[in-house]
Amino acid sequence: MDIAIERTGAERGALVLISDEGEAEVRVARNMKKEDLENPEEISFTIVRNCFKTGKPVLTTNAKTDPRFSNSSSIMLYNILSIVAVPIPGRKRVQGVVYLDSRTAKKIFSQEDLNFLLAFHQIAGIAFEKVKKEKNLIYENLRLKSQLKEDYSFEGIVGKSRAIKSVINILPRVIASDVPVLIEGESGTGKELIARVIHNSGQRSKRPFVPVYCGAFPANLLESELFGYKKGAFTGAVSDKMGLFEEADGGTFFLDEIAEVPLPIQTKLLRVLEHGVFRRLGDTKERKANVRLISATNRNLEELVRKGEFREDLYYRIKVIKIVLPPLRERKEDIPLLIKHFLKKYRKSELKVSKEAMDLFVSYNWPGNVRELENAVAHAIVMCTGKVIKPEHLPPEIVSGVDIFSEPTSLKEMEKKLIIQTLQKTGWNKKKSAEILGISTRTLHNKIKEYGLSEKNSH
Ligand SMILES: Nc1ncnc2c1ncn2[C@@H]1O[C@H](COP(=O)(O)OP(=O)(O)OP(=O)(O)O)[C@@H](O)[C@H]1O
Ligand SMILES: [Mg+2]
Repeated sequence: MDIAIERTGAERGALVLISDEGEAEVRVARNMKKEDLENPEEISFTIVRNCFKTGKPVLTTNAKTDPRFSNSSSIMLYNILSIVAVPIPGRKRVQGVVYLDSRTAKKIFSQEDLNFLLAFHQIAGIAFEKVKKEKNLIYENLRLKSQLKEDYSFEGIVGKSRAIKSVINILPRVIASDVPVLIEGESGTGKELIARVIHNSGQRSKRPFVPVYCGAFPANLLESELFGYKKGAFTGAVSDKMGLFEEADGGTFFLDEIAEVPLPIQTKLLRVLEHGVFRRLGDTKERKANVRLISATNRNLEELVRKGEFREDLYYRIKVIKIVLPPLRERKEDIPLLIKHFLKKYRKSELKVSKEAMDLFVSYNWPGNVRELENAVAHAIVMCTGKVIKPEHLPPEIVSGVDIFSEPTSLKEMEKKLIIQTLQKTGWNKKKSAEILGISTRTLHNKIKEYGLSEKNSH
């Protein structure tokens, strides 16, 4: 659109796509300054519809007096003078309309402008068809793959909990679209995994996936990392440097820990998202980058917005689609599948997990989520010399069981858990346990009886 506006001298330009249901959607609407129009609905839809219905171009030098459009309120209302519009052909029907207008006598469109647009729209039409076809194929392919989920996995995302299934179900749509995605979840819940799957399965997969760990940089450094700098912008800037945004051009930009981005940089991010433009530090030249943004956070952004620590407008921009990954302790049914998945990943599929060990895996509350589970499986593989993983092969914090301080509880409950934990740690050596607990073996025996504990039911 920018090229068409520049070449013809138009005041505004819009690309309107018509869906299979016949609905018109303004995909791009720009002005001469290469900015998005604030009110893209203020173009003449009468002309757009006319073009779509007849499949013929429209050129009018004075729309207000043109008898063909005498019933158009938008022309009068928005004071539009000259308009040129051409349909974008598709294989079966018109797919959309390229529209240019001018509201002053400074520019009156001529046959020459129309000819230019006609040459332009043929090429655009072929390109659109191709993109649409490719999109449909990708979508179809992913949808079929996700249906084949007897093994409950999709592109390396394992789980059969409702939460994971619903993520897997919407992913094909998310992937086929190109809108910003926000992924929320505690540390180790798979945020980056999902981001990479979205990138690798989509149309941008041949271009770079650029992750940025926002929390890892102090504010001024983060800005130059993201946007780059010009030579001399600050001491030490000895040459021009490209930022990560430019590096990601055409690909996917993964902003991890987005809550850590300081407010001034949030403002700049918003500008990139709205207009696709940014400046390198110390540079006056505006640059463009076409990136898909995926953000991730382990904090509650909505709350940060309420506290004024995160820009509300940026929040709405980045969360066009929001994916929430619940902590592993809230989807324990995924644990056995994940264990199987990691055994396979480490080429130890033949290893079995004893019932006692599995009970421990399931009862532990996994503060480090799937990452911690993966590490625990890796630990067990190293420790286990036989064919069956048993409790003694697991990392100590998992064997010691539930974190007794994780939730408020009664003194009696606490005592019971503490006794279980100690017994497990000592391998049910009652003498040792009593020593650690500072009670007599006799008292320990009584308590074991009182709480009905035995080596088998204590996990
Ligand atoms: N559903 C899942 N299926 C298979 N593997 C998973 C799943 N979720 C997470 N993982 C694995 O767990 C590990 C941690 O995941 P990832 O790095 O994506 O977490 P994260 O949410 O980005 O964590 P952090 O907030 O700490 O950066 C990775 O090795 C990833 O492949
Ligand atoms: Mg991560």
